[in-house]
Amino acid sequence: MAAGAGGDPGQRATSGLVRGDPLNKELKLLFSKKEIAETVARLAKEISADYADNKLILIGVLKGAFVFLADLVRHLTIPAQIEFIRIASYGSKKESSGEVIVTKDVETPVDGKDVLVVEDIVDTGLSLQFLIDHLRSKNPASVKVCALVDKKARREVEVQVDYTGFSMDDGFIVGYGIDFNEQYRALPEIFVVD
Ligand code: IMP
Ligand code: MG
Repeated sequence: MAAGAGGDPGQRATSGLVRGDPLNKELKLLFSKKEIAETVARLAKEISADYADNKLILIGVLKGAFVFLADLVRHLTIPAQIEFIRIASYGSKKESSGEVIVTKDVETPVDGKDVLVVEDIVDTGLSLQFLIDHLRSKNPASVKVCALVDKKARREVEVQVDYTGFSMDDGFIVGYGIDFNEQYRALPEIFVVD
């Protein structure tokens, strides 16, 4: 049985088409519900052990990290504030160009706080590099990064990911908050789009 996917009366199989999919894409299961749940719990445990002094602000990067952040915070055993930021990068749908702007900034002061950026995917690293610089300009005590998926082999700029859920080399993924053309965010598992 594919872990976490078997027996689920949902609208998709471990691979194949999503019923009613407007994009009509073939999806292949990459990370099951069980693998994701174990990984998120592990990350929350690491983060809870590292931050104990009540200064932590998690900053979820919209939209892709919304499901990940929601699961992550429910596993934390320490207090944490939650904020969101949204950036837009210009380029084709699958590649970011490095030209990034903030379209929704954090709404709470972060000076003196320990900022933890919660990202869905780090790919070229360009978005994250921009985000880290942007947040550092607000004088936080520290800025670290937690990414659900790290595509290290595709890095174009050096950025440090402090907490990594999964590593993968290549391939375009969807599900668990992550989209392709605004589709598939609601899938509870992570799939590779063919
Ligand atoms: P970077 O600036 O190249 O590191 O791009 C990171 C952002 O690109 C992620 O936060 C995602 O929004 C998007 N992205 C990169 N790879 C994928 C993917 O496989 N599926 C969906 N979005 C992706
Ligand atoms: Mg993103």
